[in-house]
Amino acid sequence: MTTLSIIKADTGGFVGHSAVHPDLLATAQEAARRAVGDGLLLDAHVASCGDDVSLIMTHEHGADSERVHGFAWDTFQETTEVAKRLGLYGAGQDLLSDAFSGNLKGMGPGYAELEFTDRPSEPVICFLADKTEPGAWNLALYKMFADPFNTAGLVIDEKMHAGFRFEVYDLFEEKRITFDCPEELYDMLMFIGAPARYVVHAVESRNLTEQAAATSTQRLSLIAGKYVGKDDPVMIVRCQSGLPAVGEVLEPFSFPYTVGGAMRGSHHAPLLPVSIPDAHTARFDGPPRVVALGFQITDGRLIGPRDMFADPSFDGARQQANTAMDYLRRHGPFEPHRLPLEDLEYTTMRALEARIAQRWQPMPEVATTMAR
Ligand code: 13P
Ligand code: 13P
Ligand code: MG
Ligand code: MG
Ligand code: MG
Ligand code: MG
Repeated sequence: MTTLSIIKADTGGFVGHSAVHPDLLATAQEAARRAVGDGLLLDAHVASCGDDVSLIMTHEHGADSERVHGFAWDTFQETTEVAKRLGLYGAGQDLLSDAFSGNLKGMGPGYAELEFTDRPSEPVICFLADKTEPGAWNLALYKMFADPFNTAGLVIDEKMHAGFRFEVYDLFEEKRITFDCPEELYDMLMFIGAPARYVVHAVESRNLTEQAAATSTQRLSLIAGKYVGKDDPVMIVRCQSGLPAVGEVLEPFSFPYTVGGAMRGSHHAPLLPVSIPDAHTARFDGPPRVVALGFQITDGRLIGPRDMFADPSFDGARQQANTAMDYLRRHGPFEPHRLPLEDLEYTTMRALEARIAQRWQPMPEVATTMAR
């Protein structure tokens, strides 16, 4: 069995929340090189999207391994030290705990992990996003694994025709459930259409009983009890041979659907698919970005990455995203650009309510003139 783990954290932004400084990437690359040399990891690749560093790693220790999670935690401590020296913004932002204990659950860094027995050829896409929440993957996963207008294989590939099983987390109640699609599609959509609360955590093939996709599902604000930065999730999707083809896995991002998370974690904006050189944010701390790194995993080695969105066939999506961004931005502080009150990451509402509580009066029976 091989495990593919992506573990990520924002340990300091350059400039503001826009990107990762090259010295942080160099520090993480050096740590990864040592971990491969020491035999902890089979292979590793360091990548970034916006101000978040991702450690993409293959190993044989399984998911939730103390050694692999501990390595990531130590690496993020190192990059935080570099960020502090450079005075980068929000140094150590996602490290919410003082000490590592066993695994990263509830500690701040996000992770998606997938264990599999290597097929003769193992094409995988690693998606990294910035300025959004884990539910941002819901629409894309639905399209890849349940929508025949996206994925032709659901109709014409015998190995895919039985459909896929989705595991969904309720992040507010800390519960999970599985839905068998296609027959439970409508039930599932009732939940995953509300991505701030319900998040697809994993997808498996019903025919092959192989796990096909894994996402990072932690919500930083639910861990910290307050806004400390956006989650900026990652996702792994295995492709081909009874799973969606690479082109079917990329296709959902040809529509720059709207996600929560831009500017102070509190605005809806389109999800912009970009090349690796464009994986940083700018306008209104956004628009939220997604990059796709393609690998072939061979004997545990990460052959790649290929920069999958560095392609003119995504230019239309980028143009549409910019148009949608212009449209949403003109709403300023109004919904649906600003998130609804209950989903706002930042809020002055509690203090404001307390300050003006005494000034509210009952509405008059018949409103004629303004009350004095
Ligand atoms: P190739 O003939 O280029 O290998 O394409 C096969 C295929 O089915 C792509 O979707
Ligand atoms: P990050 O989670 O990417 O640090 O974004 C924080 C933010 O509020 C940007 O406006
Ligand atoms: Mg940040
Ligand atoms: Mg970020
Ligand atoms: Mg963040
Ligand atoms: Mg071919």
